[in-house]
Amino acid sequence: MKTMIHVDNLCKKYKGTEKPAVDGIGFDVAEGEFFALLGPNGAGKTTTISILTTILSKTSGTVTIAGLDLDKNTAQIRKNVGIIFQKPSVDLNLSAEVNIRFHACMYGMYVYRPFFSWMPKAYQNRVMQLAEIMGVEDKLRRPLKTFSGGMRRKIEIVRSLIHHPKVLFLDEPTQGLDAVSRRSLWEYINQTRKEEGTTIFLTTHYIDEAENVDRICVVKNGAVLISASPQEMKNSLLKKTLILDAQNRESLIVELREGGVQPQISEKQIAVPFNEATPMGILGKLKTPLTVMRTVEPTLEDAYVSLITEKENA
Ligand SMILES: Nc1ncnc2c1ncn2[C@@H]1O[C@H](COP(=O)(O)OP(=O)(O)O)[C@@H](O)[C@H]1O
Ligand SMILES: [Mg+2]
Repeated sequence: MKTMIHVDNLCKKYKGTEKPAVDGIGFDVAEGEFFALLGPNGAGKTTTISILTTILSKTSGTVTIAGLDLDKNTAQIRKNVGIIFQKPSVDLNLSAEVNIRFHACMYGMYVYRPFFSWMPKAYQNRVMQLAEIMGVEDKLRRPLKTFSGGMRRKIEIVRSLIHHPKVLFLDEPTQGLDAVSRRSLWEYINQTRKEEGTTIFLTTHYIDEAENVDRICVVKNGAVLISASPQEMKNSLLKKTLILDAQNRESLIVELREGGVQPQISEKQIAVPFNEATPMGILGKLKTPLTVMRTVEPTLEDAYVSLITEKENA
């Protein structure tokens, strides 16, 4: 697969600070991939995304986007990326469409015209096409201050995609949105991805938002902790757990201990962590009749929390 974003040993030290905000980060994002940079507040996500979108200069390291070197082809890269900032960046007094028009003209795509109908057909068609995907086609002429937070985000997405970027960068795009708006925003982003083949680069500290991405890169203190698919992350980081119980608990516990496993005993249940694909190694040896037997799979959040805290204690 073609590499869309290549980052190697990227560092950023803000003036007057002791510790680098980004401290040797590296990763690759394939064309069309849905990639998530996941990490707690202060991890360096916004700094990284600002460098990749040419808003902020790096201290050192290599970045290429769509085969273009960040140091040499800044203007070209800018044409290839769309950005949705952590903080909304729209003019609330203007209509949705005028916000979009300003942006497109600022990118040098078109000469500004004071009316939508005076803009080139290509612009008009593109706005309508994206507005339909986002379900805002009937609201384009209304001032943005009459929009809900979720609706404003949708306009920002239209705006960020107007110039057909190869990569869409989203910096915590659902912050401050309610659960319903969050969900519909993801549906729209996925639809855009399907229809336009856009590579998506997302930063978030909501673990559940990373559940459906292709690959997650977890960062903390400016460094990469792990880079893996959500499933790999769950598999590699956590043991599954076998939940058991028996009428004759004592005998079950003795049997487990004799079998070399350490059961975690509570009033409610007996839990046995296991590593293999199936717990047959443990179950096969048991003679005590069981009343409860089920396995519990870790969630991505379990994996993430264990990863973040494990490194803290290390
Ligand atoms: N303009 C700045 N000047 C100095 N330090 C900054 C600046 N912006 C961010 N930082 C620091 O850099 C680190 C990473 O911040 P940031 O990239 O915003 O993290 P995140 O987006 O993951 O929350 C933090 O310690 C933050 O305080
Ligand atoms: Mg941030």
